[in-house]
Amino acid sequence: MSDVIISPSILSCDFANLESEVLSVMGAGAKWIHIDVMDGHFVPNITVGIPVVKSLRKVTNSILDVHLMIENPEKYIESFIQAGADMITFHIEASKDKTLKCIKMIKDMDKMAGISIKPKTPIDDIYQFIELVDMVLVMTVEPGFSGQIFMPKAAQKISKIKNYCPNLKYIQVDGGINDKTAKICKQMGANCLVAGNYIFKSNNRKTAIESLIRV
Ligand code: DX5
Ligand code: ZN
Repeated sequence: MSDVIISPSILSCDFANLESEVLSVMGAGAKWIHIDVMDGHFVPNITVGIPVVKSLRKVTNSILDVHLMIENPEKYIESFIQAGADMITFHIEASKDKTLKCIKMIKDMDKMAGISIKPKTPIDDIYQFIELVDMVLVMTVEPGFSGQIFMPKAAQKISKIKNYCPNLKYIQVDGGINDKTAKICKQMGANCLVAGNYIFKSNNRKTAIESLIRV
């Protein structure tokens, strides 16, 4: 028995058919949809933004799980929530001295707040915020691109977070998730898995999602 949530990352989908791609993974058992927002500054890549969240809001009631990989997240949080985001996760490396402000902005708008940490950032940097958020997102690749290889050392943060705050609602892991790495993460305490390539590039998305839930 497992109550792990699967959040497919649309970064690996066919953007020309975004609606049907999203509905396809929802029909295959995904509960959330992970939207990777990149600004070309915080990470060396540019992806999608507020209009895409707004468009997806019209076609699904599922949780829109927005992962902000952008500088100055406090400037954009409100707009992403107005567009329809249910969960906003920003990076501790980007929020800097405005981390509390970002959390408060999200909670004041009655949405779920997540805080994310890159593989090389010391875990000590987030402890003081863990009890204030709904989710910690542990990156197991350097943010910026889908299809990278899982970094086991980065995943060790999962068990540390679980021990530090056993009641934290969600520990999410993102980067290089497949049936093998999912198992490692779940054993350490993750209960929300993001997967891009493993789901969208598979021959059978239902089987792929089930394999992440089952392991
Ligand atoms: C990377 C993104 C991930 C990425 C995951 O910066 O945050 O969500 O799309 O893709 P896979 O699962 O292919 O590593
Ligand atoms: Zn992501």
